Amino acid sequence: MTTSAEKRAETIRPEARRALLAWYDDNARTLAWRIGPSDRSGSGPDPYRVWLSEVMLQQTTTGHAAPYFERFTTRWPTVTALAAAEDAELMGAWAGLGYYARARNLLACARAVAGEHRGVFPDTEVGLRALPGVGAYTAAAVAAIAFDRPANVVDGNVERVMARLFAVETPLPRGKPELTRLAGRMVGEDRPGDWAQALMDLGATVCRPRQPLCGVCPVADWCEGRASGRPEQFPVKAPKVKKPRRRGIAWVMLDREGRVALAQRPNKGLLGGMAGLPTSDWGDAPAETPPTEGDWLEAGSIDHVFTHFALTLEVRAARGIVERGASNQWADVETAIAILPTVFCKALARGLAALDEG
Ligand code: ADE
Repeated sequence: MTTSAEKRAETIRPEARRALLAWYDDNARTLAWRIGPSDRSGSGPDPYRVWLSEVMLQQTTTGHAAPYFERFTTRWPTVTALAAAEDAELMGAWAGLGYYARARNLLACARAVAGEHRGVFPDTEVGLRALPGVGAYTAAAVAAIAFDRPANVVDGNVERVMARLFAVETPLPRGKPELTRLAGRMVGEDRPGDWAQALMDLGATVCRPRQPLCGVCPVADWCEGRASGRPEQFPVKAPKVKKPRRRGIAWVMLDREGRVALAQRPNKGLLGGMAGLPTSDWGDAPAETPPTEGDWLEAGSIDHVFTHFALTLEVRAARGIVERGASNQWADVETAIAILPTVFCKALARGLAALDEG
């Protein structure tokens, strides 16, 4: 079945594509992983850099990802180099980007490319999709950007642009398939990599979530969201469901040299394999059993929101711990902050502040 919006997509496609690609030629953002439209002299984009950037960008904004991307590509300039990294080394370098399953998948994928594909990324969407941890989005993005395949690359930016262009009233997340189909109708054989990136740049800089800049938008003439006078209301979102709250206790313990105790998280589950602080279980009524005897100070609490639940961690802190506890590793505070995921950095900061005050 073809909807009226899909028919409209076919109608506006030639002119709207031309206008957006021309806009991209003049307005493409300069990004470390990108070969921009004005720099087509050398070889095409490096698939390794495209893949790495896309995995990072599923996690965070271009601004936050940029220094991580620089550090990763300096330390591991090729996929083969990355494949040879130690798990812990990579997890440490990833810390701060969040969603650590991705870091583990990153390594699994690098090892598959290095081991099974002689260090060369597959150049089709299907081939890419078969790599560990590469989902539909990443496969489409790498196929389009690195190999100029006409893949349908749909991230949150693209969904928003489509929702506005066609004034899609179906709320997200239910509206996703419709938005994906509409985006698919707009894909073409001409410059697929630039098309994907042009849509992303448009979404990030012009068709922004709030206060879109319709006055400078290259596709405003065809935009039904703009014509409706309420472009900001697209994409329509289903009302938010409140997340359940879990509670836990985190123990910040310092030894006599001021080093902090870390506890490796189990490999499976949330923040799996990452460094953490010693904590209780996370649930309704966490058990208050400190990892060792000590003069524990009640250090207040921190809140952190994960994808599926909100967490309140009560923080207990003690210094001068002598009995070290066999299961803990110890790190100086700077190292701990560098390798701990954000939730534990917050708890550590709370504990250290309380010890200073107390
Ligand atoms: N967001 C996700 N991927 C991107 C890319 N390749 N360029 C710009 N923004 C992005």
